[in-house]
Amino acid sequence: MARKSPFDLSKCARPNILKLQPYRCARDDYKDDGTNVLLDANENAYGPGLALNERGKLEESSQPEVDFLGLNRYPDPHQIELKELLCRLRNTRVHTQKELRPENVFVGVGSDEAIDALLRCFCAPGRDKILTCPPTYGMYGVSADVNDVEIVKVPLDVENGFQLQPDKINEALAADERIKLVYICSPGNPTANLIRKDDIQKVLEHPTWNGVVVVDEAYIDFAPEGSSLAEWVTEWPNLVVMQTLSKAFGLAGIRLGAAFSSPEIASLLNNMKAPYNISSPTSALAKAALSPKNLAVMRQKRDKIIAQRERMLRELPNIPGVGRFLGGQDANFLLVEILDKPASEGGKPSNVTALATYEALAEKKGVVVRFRGKEYGCEGCLRVTVGTEDEVTKFLEELRVVLQSLHAGIKIESSKVEDKKEKEASAVVA
Ligand SMILES: Cc1ncc(COP(=O)(O)O)c(C=O)c1O
Repeated sequence: MARKSPFDLSKCARPNILKLQPYRCARDDYKDDGTNVLLDANENAYGPGLALNERGKLEESSQPEVDFLGLNRYPDPHQIELKELLCRLRNTRVHTQKELRPENVFVGVGSDEAIDALLRCFCAPGRDKILTCPPTYGMYGVSADVNDVEIVKVPLDVENGFQLQPDKINEALAADERIKLVYICSPGNPTANLIRKDDIQKVLEHPTWNGVVVVDEAYIDFAPEGSSLAEWVTEWPNLVVMQTLSKAFGLAGIRLGAAFSSPEIASLLNNMKAPYNISSPTSALAKAALSPKNLAVMRQKRDKIIAQRERMLRELPNIPGVGRFLGGQDANFLLVEILDKPASEGGKPSNVTALATYEALAEKKGVVVRFRGKEYGCEGCLRVTVGTEDEVTKFLEELRVVLQSLHAGIKIESSKVEDKKEKEASAVVA
């Protein structure tokens, strides 16, 4: 029996949370149960950047030191050793001679924790604002909504390969002192292009604005060597650079992200965080991943992905109904236009065809990509994560079949294993 109480959730929870649109991912609908080729979340298709044997186990000599007997104790709240390894990786001396030190680092539960922590650190709910540059990563908006923080948008330059528009950003910043953070994604998601350092510098040098530029480098290890601006935070007190082990390092499952900043900002973020946000197993695995031996594995897998990215760039345009690549080629995914008919017949980018392609690939072929056609400047676009060689082969084959059928108005047959079994079983019964 329901107990009687004056409790009314709709009047009790924060109004901005009640109307929150959560972050939606294709994984809500298409599971990671081995039946699907998952090219939707920009993970490392070749697996973790760890020296694993054929059975998927770590070699004896490179076992991370997970202290099982110590799991009854809370983990280290400071993670200095892990931060030292992250600094060592990013002290490249390409952008400055100064060195990152553990005092420059915040580590969190994925870089999603850093995105949220920065918002809570700099923006008063219901008053302050952030600036984002669409099309961009959805969590900046979700975190802003959670924190009741308004978003000012200055789009990327659609006409010029989705580059930043620093003059327009600076105008917006000059006009509104309530904007406290500018989130810049480089390489961009879903645009896959690096943002020019000079353009970021223009915003950092704003003459009047008192706020912080946040550069999200989740995909930086797929860009040319030396692209990361992490060490540049030692030169700019108003710069934060976020990174993650979820992408090139192939460790999305351990949830480890980092933000590099001045010691002063890092100290604010560290003061705010839950004390034991990084679990001991996560810390042990992250430290193992940053050892020279495992970094070499990560780089081998990264190079294989880059080879498949080159292959997709070569082979996708041969499929009738595939249009241009928008954005750049600096990440482990590509943003590609889908046309309503082949280009030779005057096809145009089409959201209707792109959505139907996305649905048919996922529902009938077990290949899950991301429909991005509703994002600013992305009419008719799919975002496709670069997979393994076999996954790319399957994607290219199935895309060709799906587009051919859609253009011809023919029903698309399912080639999913479980659907085939079901069909065979019903044929036997019949
Ligand atoms: C641009 C960007 N930033 C951050 C993240 C979040 O990464 P993490 O797994 O570290 O939370 C993602 C994940 O897709 C991303 O695309």
